[in-house]
Amino acid sequence: MSYYFDKETNVESKEIATRTNINGKLYTFKTDNNVFSKKGLDFGTRTLLECINVDSINGDVLDFGCGYGPIGIFVALNTSSIVDMIDINDRAICLARKNAKINCANVNIFESNIYSNVNKKYDYIITNPPIRVGKKILYEILIKAKEHLKFDGHLIFVINKDQGAKSTIRDMKDYYQVNIIGKNKGFFVIDCQNH
Ligand SMILES: C[S@@+](CC[C@H](N)C(=O)[O-])C[C@H]1O[C@@H](n2cnc3c(N)ncnc32)[C@H](O)[C@@H]1O
Repeated sequence: MSYYFDKETNVESKEIATRTNINGKLYTFKTDNNVFSKKGLDFGTRTLLECINVDSINGDVLDFGCGYGPIGIFVALNTSSIVDMIDINDRAICLARKNAKINCANVNIFESNIYSNVNKKYDYIITNPPIRVGKKILYEILIKAKEHLKFDGHLIFVINKDQGAKSTIRDMKDYYQVNIIGKNKGFFVIDCQNH
């Protein structure tokens, strides 16, 4: 059995091209088997992208767990930020590179297991985090983000109420100044500011 959060997959590749409209602009994203949301833009990711205020996002941005690349590519095309994108999944990295090219987004994409290859501090870390990896790894991703944020930097993530949104919001208050910046159909978009 292979999962979208495995490094490698032996599931046969079957790329498809999807077209999606986000805030009135069209994007083409190639997706594939064994990559998160292979049918196209995930509703949680859409909720996150439609909630973030692109006018306030600038500086250095990290798309954690980029998958086929919708978050980092959207941020690169709608802000003047310098965007890095990371994922553990080799197939996702390869697709994200293709999608950056197709959408003419200038981004830097590299493999990393959690923050193993991240050597920089960011103004924003933005993520639709992997939930199926379990709470221990999820919390490692969310809490260790602090070490890769500049002072006053923001971790922005989306999580569904059925995935433990309420307890995650409560627990993040031990580490960050937490604000809910959007909600849609059970998805919460959460801004955690480093202080
Ligand atoms: C919920 S998906 C989101 C994908 C993409 N950002 C999107 O919104 O469609 C989470 C991503 O985190 C990646 N991931 C899981 N565990 C990881 C880890 N330990 N280090 C880095 N990325 C990981 C998965 O491979 C997956 O692409």
